Parts: sequence; C-alpha cells; structure tokens
Amino acid sequence: MGFLGRLLRFSAVGLALALAGPVSARAAELNGIWRMDIHKAFGVTLQNYLILKQGPTSIEGSVLVNSSYKARIQGAHMDGQDVVFHIEWGWNFRVRPDGQNLHVVITYDGGGRDEAIAVPVAESEMNPPARIEPPAVRDVTYNGLARTPPMGWNSWNHFAERVDDAVVRQTADAMVSSGMAAAGYLYINIDDTWEGGRDSKGNIVPNRKFPDMKALADYVHSKGLRLGIYSSPGPVTCGGYEGSYGHEEQDARTYAGWGIDYLKYDWCSAGRIYPTTELRAIYQKMGEALQSSGRPMVLSLCEYGMVDVWTWGPKVGGNLWRTTGDISDNWKSMSDIGFNQGRLAPYAGPGHWNDPDMLEVGNGGMTVEEYRTHFSLWSMLAAPLMAGNDLRSMSAETREILTNREVIAIDQDALGREAVRVSDADGVEVWVRTLADGGHAVGVFNRNSEERQSGFSWSAVGLAAAPANVRALWRHESVTPGAGGYDGLIPGHGVVLLRLN
Ligand code: GLA
Repeated sequence: MGFLGRLLRFSAVGLALALAGPVSARAAELNGIWRMDIHKAFGVTLQNYLILKQGPTSIEGSVLVNSSYKARIQGAHMDGQDVVFHIEWGWNFRVRPDGQNLHVVITYDGGGRDEAIAVPVAESEMNPPARIEPPAVRDVTYNGLARTPPMGWNSWNHFAERVDDAVVRQTADAMVSSGMAAAGYLYINIDDTWEGGRDSKGNIVPNRKFPDMKALADYVHSKGLRLGIYSSPGPVTCGGYEGSYGHEEQDARTYAGWGIDYLKYDWCSAGRIYPTTELRAIYQKMGEALQSSGRPMVLSLCEYGMVDVWTWGPKVGGNLWRTTGDISDNWKSMSDIGFNQGRLAPYAGPGHWNDPDMLEVGNGGMTVEEYRTHFSLWSMLAAPLMAGNDLRSMSAETREILTNREVIAIDQDALGREAVRVSDADGVEVWVRTLADGGHAVGVFNRNSEERQSGFSWSAVGLAAAPANVRALWRHESVTPGAGGYDGLIPGHGVVLLRLN
C-alpha cells in the first residue's frame, strides 16, 4: 500500500470514467456525498466518504479514505444491479443503492472484506476540525537516543490491522528465542490500528485488541526489549484511527505512563489541515511534547520524504525520518527505493538517520537472493533495521539473513557514515561505506536478473593498495585479495558484500 504515491497523486478533481453499457436508473441514485462507517470487530468505527457524481454515461468521483486522503474512483462499471469500482489504496467497491442508502461491500487487495451502509450527508460533514496554530519554529534538543540506527520489528508490513496483544507478546518471545535480540534487535513496534478513541478526559485509549498497554510494555521490557507505538499529528491516522491532533502533550504523557520507548509519527490526515510549509512546526510540537513527558522515546518521522525532511529532521527531535513512500514486498519497490538513496548520505549520522522504510525480508514476495540484497543495501545505507515479517514462523533462511552479525556490524558501525555509490555500469552498482576502524564495506550489487562477472579496483574504492584482509560477509569467509582489485560472479538481483581492512 504505497501511501506517498497516493498522497502526491491526490487531486480534488474526480476523473470521469465511462460505464460499460447503458447507465441504469439505479446508478443515478448514486449521486451525492455518502458517509460510510466501517465497524471493526474490535470496537472501532472508521469513517469514509464516497463523493459520487452521476453523468449521463459515466460516474465520476472519489473516496475520502479513512477521513484522511482523497482517492479517485477507477474502473467504474455496472455489474447487474451493482456499480463496481476500485481505488488505488487497494480497496474494491461493490455498491448497491436501495432507494435511500447505499449498501457497500469492500474487499481489500491484501485480503479481508467489510460491509457497510453509506448514508447521504451534507458536504460540510467532511470538513476536518478547526485549525490549531502551529508553534513558532525552534530547535529541539537531541534526546541522546539511537546513536546507531534503531533495530527492531514493526507490525505493519506483515500484520497491518491484524496486530494485537498476543501477536506483540509472541513476537517479543520470538525476538529472543530466534537470536535476534542477541544480534541487536531491540524495539517491538506496534504500528497503526491499536487506537480505540478517547475517554471522558481526552486520554487516548487502545481498542479491544490491546486490553492493557502498560502490562504489555511491562512484558516486553521483561524480555529486555523496548516497546514502540504509532500515531499521527492529524485528527486520524492513515488507517482512520484516532490521531494526536490537539492532544500532543497529553498523548506523550500517556505513552510515557505506559512505558513506551519509541513513537512513529505519521503525517496522514494532518495534510488536510496544514500545508507542507508547516510540517516542520507540527513535528516539532511532538518532539517537544515527548521531551517534556520525561521519558526518553525515539522519534520516528513518517512524512514520506516531503520538504527535504533530512535537512531539518534532527532539529524537531527526530531520530529517523522516512525518505520515501511505502515499501512493498517486491524487487521493483525495494530496489527503486534502495538504490535511489545515495544523495541523502550526507544527512545521516549518530542520532539521526535516513529511513528508506521497514524491511520486507521473509514476507514472501522476493527470493532469498533478493532479500540478501535488501538487507545488505539497508545496512550499507545505515538504515534502521526494522524487521517486518512474522518472527514466530520465519524460515531458517530468513533468520540467517536477519541475524547475520557481520552484515549487522556494517549497519551499526559507530561512525554512522552512509555508503555512497562509486560506480554504476551494466546494471552493476558498487557502493562503499567508510567504517569506524578505518576499514571499508563494499557492496557489489547486480540489478540485472541474470548473473554478472564483475568487481572493482582497489583505487575505485579509495584504497592505494590491496587491503590486508577481505571478508565475504554472506559466505562468512576470507577472500584472498587480488593485486588490482576484486572480481567475482554476482547472481542476478544478488550482491557480494565485502569488508576490507
Ligand atoms: C502509512 C505509513 C505506513 C503505515 C501505514 C499505517 O502508509 O507510511 O508505514 O504506518 O500508514 O496506516
């Protein structure tokens, strides 16, 4: 589910879409603005709006998804009595007017189905709450956290809305039993869909999936791990759940009270209230709120790389910031993101990191070779290593990738200097990262689907002569250095990752 792409492509102007065949009288009943409440089994109601305009031969319109952003309807056509269309978010609609309301069935590309009744409403119902003035821009003091890129797990890529208390506890158990905790993974992060609403005092409360957040934090802490949570500066999150708008300090205090150690803060519906020119001030507000809560919490900025966040991320108290839209579990998405990060290298360093999004390793959409490339590239980029798979049932191969300590040592190198690309020819890219001990990590990445014989000269990676030691980090063996450089066979979509000392 690529959020940035959807966000950037948003346009209030609906696209006219031709209906296959004659427009039925029933379809004409679609005209108008409809509020569609989706009731989730765990006690949360998500509000969506359908904005539909019936032309003589077409339907145009959009969906205000999760009260968060507008997506145009696409592919509208009649199917018997129903009008069928989809939106880019990955939702497929089947709509049947009953004279007064619309009966809507939504199926999701990732699996799952909801039924809802859409009722006609006035356009003003869609308005976001009144604007709250952002604070004056000032610098927030560094919180001292994340001296090396944060390592942990996040629920979103695999579980999305299926995350609950049991999954989090079992993941904490698996983090320890799999050897990941010993390899450096620390944070267990709950992403969107944990939120319930607010109590009579305005305090945020979890939904039924999370009966006792403090007890959960205690459990995670008892394993030697830390607990992370998710929110948005907007009234609702990207998933349509309660956001922190107007409750920033109160939420920071609540998190501190629960024992939360990490907050991912996702722009989402804040974009309906604030222009991006005010983005920095809005993030600063939460940076300050976390600091005045008295509990150290890592702050993860999630605004998809808008307004050069890398130039001001640390100044709002951010420890990491997303540089892109959402990753998907496929080679194209991963490699398009990963190989385009080079220009951001100057902005990363101890305490503040570029975040090309969470890992997909082990989620099934890429080959083992591709996942090794993914993990190698993220480590070269000094990226946060947030596993996004189901740790409870991962294969031995997935575990080996995620716990390769020699590769993790590159990611976690104390100098915190990101790799830069030194060559790019015939689909083979050579990236070099300078390490704290004076050594270098070199990745030879083959973006072709077929294998390539390739390599680099010592001078191309900044060395005057052959290094004394060359270590191949996936094969866990030393390589005898050639006089002039390295040359080897790189599998299609694969990598040779070396440490030179
Ligand atoms: C956005 C973020 C994702 C995830 C979802 C949750 O799309 O970029 O990483 O947090 O929201 O709704």
